[in-house]
Amino acid sequence: MPGKKKVGILTSGGDAPGMNAAIRASVRAALHYGYDVVGINRGYAGLLEKDFIPMNTNLVRGIIGLGGTILRTSRSEFFPTEAGLQKATDILNDFGIDSLVVIGGDGSLSGAVELEKRGISVVGMPGTIDNDFGASDYTIGFDTAVSTALDAIAKIRDTTFSHNRINIVQVMGRTCGDIALYAGFSSGADAIIIPEMETNLKEICETLLRGRDRNELASIVMLAEGCGSYRDYVDQFEEMTGVVTKGTNLGYIQRGGSPTHFDRNLASYMGYKAVEAIHEGNTNTVIVQRKGEYLAIPIEEALQTEKKFNIDMYKTMKFLTR
Ligand code: F6P
Repeated sequence: MPGKKKVGILTSGGDAPGMNAAIRASVRAALHYGYDVVGINRGYAGLLEKDFIPMNTNLVRGIIGLGGTILRTSRSEFFPTEAGLQKATDILNDFGIDSLVVIGGDGSLSGAVELEKRGISVVGMPGTIDNDFGASDYTIGFDTAVSTALDAIAKIRDTTFSHNRINIVQVMGRTCGDIALYAGFSSGADAIIIPEMETNLKEICETLLRGRDRNELASIVMLAEGCGSYRDYVDQFEEMTGVVTKGTNLGYIQRGGSPTHFDRNLASYMGYKAVEAIHEGNTNTVIVQRKGEYLAIPIEEALQTEKKFNIDMYKTMKFLTR
């Protein structure tokens, strides 16, 4: 049903490159439809403190290529409580914000569902570098994080080669090994440790030693943080291979930086589609990308969609390194 007058927009949870492109697209689309747009600073925490800013095109000019989020973000413990949700709903009603655009991961989108139940129209976009949102082929920020990891791995490879070492490269991903898998596959890493697959350290060490017999002297092992810290593995690798082993945690550099063209495009389409969904009354939805197509699907359905592991990529990587 067209005619919503005031759209709020917020980013929540871990920031991800491309969030600004999504904000820009949503603001521009909403203004085009004649809506007032309110930026909500610092996610749900800022909503509870009425930390609002009226948005206009000047505020989003030139931000498509900026990392981070101009609205900033937070993880609020109070918001998902009954009292927090009621307070947030009351504030949104008081300010006449009847539609909300939420950019964040599954925790942030679960919060959005609760607001919808209390009468606020909500449309979400999956924004997280982890790519752990099963309903969408890609999340905003993942491609940039992989690209940043590739850049770092190339540098680590130089020194690893020079010293004939093994280097364990730890990347983000608590429950999802996609950053490790995609960055590992596209950097030609030798082995991978991820939560989706059982780890056989003996097999991995044999692979590395076979590679070294072929004169492959820079051994890179990708490790998703969900399987622990590289520090947990260094001694074991040294003992099992006899090769000096070092580790590197790529840490927060993965979350920053200018988004790749892929993330800018993904975020811009999603931002536009989110406002289109509000305009058409197709709310309580999240915008997802599947096989290049953008769809608005019910948030609850999206949250229940199991994340599909890219087993083909994993098997191919193993085949090429064995
Ligand atoms: O953005 C996702 C993520 O990067 C996870 O992979 C990571 O464990 C977590 O967020 C850490 O975020 P923070 O320290 O900001 O809570």
